[in-house]
Amino acid sequence: MMEWPLALRVYSGAAPSQCSAVLERMDPEQLTAGEVLVGTAYSSVNYKDALAVVDPASVLRGSPRIPGIDVCGSVLSADVPGVQQGDAVFASGNGLGESRDGGFSEMVRLQGREVIVLPKGVEPRQAMMLGTAGLSAMLALERIEWAGATPATGPVAITGATGAVGAVAVALLAARGYEVEAVTTKRDAGSFLGRLGAAAVVHQEELMADRRPMQRARWAAAIDNVGGDLLPQVTGSLRHGGAVAVVGLAGGHAFPGSVLPLMLRGLSILGICSDDIRPERKAGMLAELLRLIPKERLDVIAPLEVSLRDVDRTFCQQRLTGKHFGRVLVRTAVSRA
Ligand SMILES: NC(=O)c1ccc[n+]([C@@H]2O[C@H](COP(=O)([O-])OP(=O)(O)OC[C@H]3O[C@@H](n4cnc5c(N)ncnc54)[C@H](OP(=O)(O)O)[C@@H]3O)[C@@H](O)[C@H]2O)c1
Repeated sequence: MMEWPLALRVYSGAAPSQCSAVLERMDPEQLTAGEVLVGTAYSSVNYKDALAVVDPASVLRGSPRIPGIDVCGSVLSADVPGVQQGDAVFASGNGLGESRDGGFSEMVRLQGREVIVLPKGVEPRQAMMLGTAGLSAMLALERIEWAGATPATGPVAITGATGAVGAVAVALLAARGYEVEAVTTKRDAGSFLGRLGAAAVVHQEELMADRRPMQRARWAAAIDNVGGDLLPQVTGSLRHGGAVAVVGLAGGHAFPGSVLPLMLRGLSILGICSDDIRPERKAGMLAELLRLIPKERLDVIAPLEVSLRDVDRTFCQQRLTGKHFGRVLVRTAVSRA
């Protein structure tokens, strides 16, 4: 008889201190429903996944619930056309690891319409080096280009540059020919960001020092992963006709600041929602990211690989305070290891 899979199940309580994350064996019949049963290989610790472990009520719907908004692995059984046993597959977002059981488990049940069969030549681990962060970075690039940015219009700022989305965005835009200025809170990030292709490093502290709404017009566009008080500093530093893609809120969800630079410089604020990416587009976006980003930079993007056994509250708390660099991969097939 098949051994039950190990899964990291988060039990929600009224307060974060009454919540727990427990690695336990569970009957696969108890996984949320889906036509495709997958033996997983990798997930990743995204910002949202770390939040799901530390403060479940802010992310998860239902208890117990398995976090993990990204997953890849091999199909064990499928009751849907176009997906075969043994196919290497990837899925992300759209409620996975939030309202449905996600990738922090040795098995997951996916809905047929969300399953992406990986194109030949794309390894599951490579797909996970990019994951939701890669798709979000690609969407942000598409949006700023839609608003007029090109490598010739001037430098592009990327905030939260050493985070997961930030790291992929730096590598992607550099590969596309942009002059990337990486904005970071970290003092020791120069080498990491340089290896990703950043042309310059700007310390967040320096950018926060002058709070006037209109600042030196230095960037043609920006990708902001931090939000909060940093966003007005970014918009205030954009050149005429510039655009900022708003991806994240690692520094807060408030939307403070002045409308002056928006009006006087004709700026665009572009919201990014990776859940909006149709599943059938994701395979193409992953393949395009892998075509553009040199392989050696892919290794820089994902410098840390841990086991599902390592993903506990302490680890996730560190993730939320921005301690890690780049993507954190999670090896999920721990019983077989
Ligand atoms: N819109 C979407 O579809 C979408 C998709 C994916 C992620 N997101 C959001 O995008 C943000 C980044 O996600 P991620 O997975 O890249 O997260 P992450 O790996 O944790 O990176 C966040 C980075 O933000 C920077 N940061 C600046 N101030 C911070 C603060 N007060 N606390 C923590 N970090 C701070 C840090 O980089 P530096 O030290 O280099 O500044 C940190 O590494 C999150 O808010 C996430 O929820 C949105």
